[in-house]
Amino acid sequence: MLIQSVFLGLLALASGLVGVDAGARKTPKGFVTTKGTKFQLNGKDFYFAGTNAYYFPFGDNGTDVELGMKAATAAGLKVFRTWGFFDKNVTFDPRGLPKYGGEGAGPSKVYFQSWDHGKPSINYGPTGLQAFDKVVRTAEKTGIKLVVALTNNWADYGGMDVYTVNLGGKYHDDFYHMPKIVKAYKNYLKVFINRYKHSPAIMSWQLANEPRCGADGVRNLPRSADCDDKRISAWVKDISAYIKKLDPYHLVSTGSEGEFNFPNRSDDWAYSSGNGGDFYKELSLPNVDYGTFHLYPDWWSKTSAWGTQWVKDHATAQYKLGKPVVFEEYGWLTPEKRLEYLGKNSTEHRIPVVGEWQRTAVQQKLAGTLYWQFGFSGYSYGRNHDDGFTIYLDNKEEADVLVVKHARDMDALNRKG
Ligand SMILES: *[C@@H]1O[C@H](CO)[C@@H](O)[C@H](O)[C@H]1NC(C)=O
Ligand SMILES: *[C@@H]1O[C@H](CO)[C@@H](O)[C@H](O)[C@H]1NC(C)=O
Ligand SMILES: *[C@@H]1O[C@H](CO)[C@@H](O)[C@H](O)[C@H]1NC(C)=O
Ligand SMILES: *[C@@H]1O[C@H](CO)[C@@H](O)[C@H](O)[C@H]1NC(C)=O
Repeated sequence: MLIQSVFLGLLALASGLVGVDAGARKTPKGFVTTKGTKFQLNGKDFYFAGTNAYYFPFGDNGTDVELGMKAATAAGLKVFRTWGFFDKNVTFDPRGLPKYGGEGAGPSKVYFQSWDHGKPSINYGPTGLQAFDKVVRTAEKTGIKLVVALTNNWADYGGMDVYTVNLGGKYHDDFYHMPKIVKAYKNYLKVFINRYKHSPAIMSWQLANEPRCGADGVRNLPRSADCDDKRISAWVKDISAYIKKLDPYHLVSTGSEGEFNFPNRSDDWAYSSGNGGDFYKELSLPNVDYGTFHLYPDWWSKTSAWGTQWVKDHATAQYKLGKPVVFEEYGWLTPEKRLEYLGKNSTEHRIPVVGEWQRTAVQQKLAGTLYWQFGFSGYSYGRNHDDGFTIYLDNKEEADVLVVKHARDMDALNRKG
């Protein structure tokens, strides 16, 4: 009897420490938190619309970032997702891998980590982390929250394969399990995250942009024969726990495209873990605070209606797992770029297609949405690059509906509870 009540008392104490003290009470002011399927900020619900501007740190111009963030704020956007990585070799071998260097933001003096035949060095200087400091300080000043991806599945700005080629790996997915590579990535995470762990401008640390078993057949290392959801989920578990140990108060997310692993859906790669994703398994992990999914029917050979169902299926997961889910990249090509990239025409246009996905997200009360990508014409260099998906704020026809109205609709959820 006595033993039992002491035991129960200890249990209550333990759960109190984990559930209440370490969570709600000590989380610093101005940090985004989660409560069930919602985000919260300063004790209030925080449903948001936002966007992606991966290029913010690479322009190395705080004034430009501030102009962009202020214009976005005026349009009702609250969150920006951006890149917290740029890895490159000290000497670039044009026949080597990965084939970085042809990115949309153009040549950039900025890089965060360089590699010399297997030896990494972090760039702390003005063309290194100090360029990212400007993005964080500007977000603090303008009240924008940042989602920061910390490496890339793809060759743009270096990413996973720079670690792998430098540390003796052969396959793209060696990044997820070769001990030397995992350790090198953790060393980078430690420096980057410790530098900003006190900033309320950081909403979330993100494991990678679109982690997959494989990548680009031309610009990246090949996929091995034995990569599957077990390898990816084990990595998500390990890295999310590592980040929480460094920084227990910022949220952690995967940055994944949201693949499901349903045994009854082998007809569709996106529902049958074609690239190693398992949305339910990854989001069930204790250190993954919210789920993410992306949507590009043009790249994925899907229809716009398939996309609407994709949004609904992720909303279902949000409620089943009881954690927020963010629709964090989505786009529909312009007719010109569709013809250029894919040699195809479509009778469907961006405003109705994207508008339908957004209406679905609002109806289902997804926790947040971030369109790809933020277009602004007032930078010192003019307009940012159009990758075919960019929505420019000064394109009133698109921006009035897909940016301003959608942001208002998401914000209205904060008053409905
Ligand atoms: C980068 O360096 C590694 C190791 O020296 C090499 O294997 C790889 O080909 C290089 N890649 C590029 C693009 O320079
Ligand atoms: C397939 O499996 C998923 C997950 O178990 C389930 O939610 C869904 O209803 C199933 N679909 C069909 C068509 O049986
Ligand atoms: C797409 O439409 C353009 C303009 O109407 C036309 O010239 C072209 O042949 C079409 N291309 C394809 C692949 O259907
Ligand atoms: C940074 O941007 C501001 C405003 O857009 C511009 O006036 C300034 O010249 C830019 N600085 C550099 C170094 O390009």
